[in-house]
Amino acid sequence: MVRPTPATVNAAPRPTGTPARRGLDALTRELGLLYGGDYNPEQWPREVWHEDVALMRAAGVNLVTVGVFSWALLEPRPGEFELDWLGDVLDLLQVSGIAVDLATPTASPPAWLGLRWPETRAVTADGVRLSHGSRNHFCPSSPVYRERALTIAGVLVDRFASHPAVRMWHIGNEYGQVCHCDLCGAEFQAWLHRRYGTVDGLNRAWGTTFWSQRYDDWTEVVPPRAAPYLINPTQALDYRRFASDQLLALYVEQRELVRQAAPATPVTTNFMGFHPLTDYWRWAPEVDVVADDTYGDPADEDSPLLQGLAHDLMRGLAGGAPWMLMEQAAGAVNWRPHNLPKTPGRMRLDSLRAIARGADGSCYFQWRQSAFGAERFHSALVPHAGPDTRLHRAVRAHGAELGRLHRVVGARVEARVAFVFDWSSWWATEERAMPSDRLRVMDQLLAYYRPLWRAGIAVDVVHPGGDLSGYDLVVAPQLYLVDDDDAQNLRGVVERGGVLLLGPFSGVADADAHIRLGRFPVPFTDLVGGSGEEYCPLPDGGVPVRSEALGDFSATVWGERLRLDDGEAVATFAGGDLDGSPAVLRRCAPSGGEAWYVGTLPPQAVLDEIVARCVRSAGVVGALGRVPGAGPLLPDGVEAVRRGDVLFLLNTTTEERDVALVGVHHDLLTGTDTTGTVHLGPEDALALIERIA
Ligand code: GAL
Repeated sequence: MVRPTPATVNAAPRPTGTPARRGLDALTRELGLLYGGDYNPEQWPREVWHEDVALMRAAGVNLVTVGVFSWALLEPRPGEFELDWLGDVLDLLQVSGIAVDLATPTASPPAWLGLRWPETRAVTADGVRLSHGSRNHFCPSSPVYRERALTIAGVLVDRFASHPAVRMWHIGNEYGQVCHCDLCGAEFQAWLHRRYGTVDGLNRAWGTTFWSQRYDDWTEVVPPRAAPYLINPTQALDYRRFASDQLLALYVEQRELVRQAAPATPVTTNFMGFHPLTDYWRWAPEVDVVADDTYGDPADEDSPLLQGLAHDLMRGLAGGAPWMLMEQAAGAVNWRPHNLPKTPGRMRLDSLRAIARGADGSCYFQWRQSAFGAERFHSALVPHAGPDTRLHRAVRAHGAELGRLHRVVGARVEARVAFVFDWSSWWATEERAMPSDRLRVMDQLLAYYRPLWRAGIAVDVVHPGGDLSGYDLVVAPQLYLVDDDDAQNLRGVVERGGVLLLGPFSGVADADAHIRLGRFPVPFTDLVGGSGEEYCPLPDGGVPVRSEALGDFSATVWGERLRLDDGEAVATFAGGDLDGSPAVLRRCAPSGGEAWYVGTLPPQAVLDEIVARCVRSAGVVGALGRVPGAGPLLPDGVEAVRRGDVLFLLNTTTEERDVALVGVHHDLLTGTDTTGTVHLGPEDALALIERIA
């Protein structure tokens, strides 16, 4: 018999980015924008704590996350609790006027748990049981782990739920791992049972007539594990869905403990942007505050775009409500092979970018740089060398200027462009044995995002089943898997007169990752005015494409054998095996809407032009009224975002930049007024409001 676990989430409602429930309002109304970070006082003698709070106050820190990795200190032996030190920390923060986001320490169980109950430790796909000595080694399905996690969380809740310093709860840390043990296997069977009802249903969904994979009983089903060759792709997809839900169940059961004791206190956990192991569309409705960790790489010139995209995802997950940046680095991280530190300018830009894109808090990992342990070379707000350092001076200065941005608290970013992104689709696309593993979802997202970022056009990342009624342009850069309802939802964009831009290899599979039969993209062929019959990854070196509208170009990586039906071939292959086949299709609908299908990978400049045409058809303009392809864009590398009535201009380059504006603008960061063109120094930022003359 398969036993359903008490806290399960796969009966959750359709994930559409429901607004988070309790939000940050109460906290930010009182404190303004949140500023601070992870605080790990257990690594330091008590006298340092006093210096810490003095420095925090001087830096404008108003929120710290405490206790994330302190389970072994709070419960040194099973059932023996030592909470007084934490109580002292909370008291000290309370008298110092610093609010606490109190963590349950369940991401890193103590050694005794895994030694006494080895089954609490996760197992890899190769069958290796992980050891303690690092962190995150727990198995999410182990009843002992779950019970012990609830116990320590419950002890903390009982003792501290009504402590006046505790203004938010932080469950675990960065949920995002996967275990392949037998306990997970049994939970997977239960999850499948709930999803498919019968073993026949499972067999149908997984297509088990292929390679003799038919199951006769739930107990025969195992997680994807080391195997001689390719794993059933729907099994792999469902395991990812299950693994995310299993972690979410852990979060939910701890959250319920907090809710019972402190119903008004928001509860959250920290997301990790486009994380490959957690479907945040399913998580978002369960958190009171959408919180994210973003570690932009200063060595990556696309870092500002990648961070912007991740922030736009968080805003989408929060349904437009304010979210918070829970973690970022003030300087260097230490987990890349070669770690460039951020300059103070870059640190400031990265923080302001989050605020500009809807965050009401900008926090860091961590407050004081560790002298020991695995993260001793990871930067912090107080470096090893102490407060008399360039980095800490920048931290103070930034704290002071965030205090001057009160005006944006709670304000919205209004976007009329939506980017469609779905974890199931991403997972299904990144399975093995696809036509090409060079076609990558994240690459496509970035390529389609780039021209919009450059034009300062706001984008919300949305679920394909989300409410699209407020968007004039909906872009699905690569939506491989789409269920029938979501396909209908996307079709609705064109039917009501909007513009839909579909990237390659979209609409291919259904919810079970079965290929939709017929000419593709099956759910959209009538909309795009053409249809295809063969996926044709391109030979190295590229293939010529002719286009009057876009200019001739060379397509790379991906092609599709398309034919024109009643649409328009905006670009056509002119050579090679695809000679004469449309590469880009467009069709204007009787509704006045428009649908585009890009069946290849054009060079960025050509894609920019395609996006520009869609933007113009949709009547969307950027933060400065700029439209791509119509007049000068923003100066190169200047990011522009409007939040409420504040226009953020971020110069992500190391050169000077001027931005032509009309009228008098007041910069909230410096308190100065400028008439007409504004000047930005290297890595400089402005937060402008219009002065009525
Ligand atoms: C995060 C994590 C923190 C710290 C940080 C370092 O993933 O939540 O605890 O490890 O990375 O960048």
